[in-house]
Amino acid sequence: MRQHKIGLVGCGPRGIHLIREMVRNRENVRLAAIADPRADRRENCRQTYGLPSEVCFHDYEDLLANRKNLGINAVVIASNVATHAEIACACIEAGIPVFLEKPMAMTIEQAREIVKLAKRSGVPVQVGFNLRYAPFFITLHDLIVSGEIGTILSIEWAEVIGPRHWADGYCRRPSYGLSSSVGSWLLEKSCHDMDLIAWITSSPCKRVASFGSRTYFVPRSDVPEKCSWECPRYFRCVWKADPSGKGMAAPLTPEERELCVFHSPSDIVDHQNAIFEFEDGTLASFNLNPLGIPERRYFTIYGVDGTISGDTSTNWICLRKADSGTEIVYRPGGVEDGHLGADSRIAQAFIDFLDDPVMNPPKTGVREGFEAVLMACAADISRRENRVVELEEYRKDL
Ligand SMILES: NC(=O)c1ccc[n+]([C@@H]2O[C@H](COP(=O)([O-])OP(=O)(O)OC[C@H]3O[C@@H](n4cnc5c(N)ncnc54)[C@H](O)[C@@H]3O)[C@@H](O)[C@H]2O)c1
Repeated sequence: MRQHKIGLVGCGPRGIHLIREMVRNRENVRLAAIADPRADRRENCRQTYGLPSEVCFHDYEDLLANRKNLGINAVVIASNVATHAEIACACIEAGIPVFLEKPMAMTIEQAREIVKLAKRSGVPVQVGFNLRYAPFFITLHDLIVSGEIGTILSIEWAEVIGPRHWADGYCRRPSYGLSSSVGSWLLEKSCHDMDLIAWITSSPCKRVASFGSRTYFVPRSDVPEKCSWECPRYFRCVWKADPSGKGMAAPLTPEERELCVFHSPSDIVDHQNAIFEFEDGTLASFNLNPLGIPERRYFTIYGVDGTISGDTSTNWICLRKADSGTEIVYRPGGVEDGHLGADSRIAQAFIDFLDDPVMNPPKTGVREGFEAVLMACAADISRRENRVVELEEYRKDL
């Protein structure tokens, strides 16, 4: 069995969780070093994995500089998206295989840079689109490729974020709620959906149009800046501070936890729609909403021979055949762990990939990572500039 010593860059909740999944029940995999500029995050990770302090670095450059004496043979990048391109390129230049969390980069240009460098160097990169490893979406994809509904003409797809996730995850948490940190909400949250839609259509996206804005979660004079009993909305507000500090509120500081959602510094849109046309003529419409209960992804895919609908919140996929009128319902197993069972499986896939990159290529490498960034960023260009964005020019020379 090959031994794998992993370096982790970015010790937030995602990095810690990914490493837990990678080392779980595997004696040949261990965390060898970490890097994070935040001392609290470094210390939390150091304690979680019992690391000596000399392998805990402030700068990822120091982790890379020490990679040979520490025997590091792979790096997991789970830092904020604004840093992904710089860190991924440095790892690729150093010749180290990389697991790069989604979104692959914050801009189309950065994503192009990663694709070019990975191609030139041959260094393997897996992009963290875990949902392609979720049994739910594998079932959907299998139904599509087996031809059950024939040629797809159009797709309706929605991602719905629940009130707590929106309030604590995107209004109060600066690393997710500010355009300067994440690029855009659609890029940060829904690059998964861009990837899934691209996977289902298996045709390059040709052009994009999008509308979206922040119209509701804006400062208002009838509520105070911090949640308190004096707030006239307090008892009916579904976004009020969660004093438990658990769940979505766990990564927040006590000050952030109390911020009113209407007065938070978050500047990402609070609703967005986009339409995508693919080279083969398929059309996809996508809605991103923060006001839904339950939190879920749901969709209907219209093929010439039938439809497939699905809802992640009920683990329900329904195939309806046009000719016979039959309905078959699927409830995929193995969806209990993180992200519908995706996290443990993508971790396994990365270890398999390190064992043998040729025999076990990842489902999502830099090219898939690039396409999702391209679709999401193009939607945001369209939204901001009020125009249809053609995508082909961005693929030149790749
Ligand atoms: N695939 C999934 O389902 C999934 C789920 C959650 C998060 N993510 C992704 O994982 C990434 C991290 O998410 P998170 O929730 O842990 O974010 P976070 O903001 O809580 O943590 C990120 C950490 O990276 C550190 N960091 C920033 N710059 C750095 C640098 N130059 N070098 C080293 N570390 C640096 C920060 O200090 C912070 O501790 C994001 O890209 C996010 O989109 C993916």
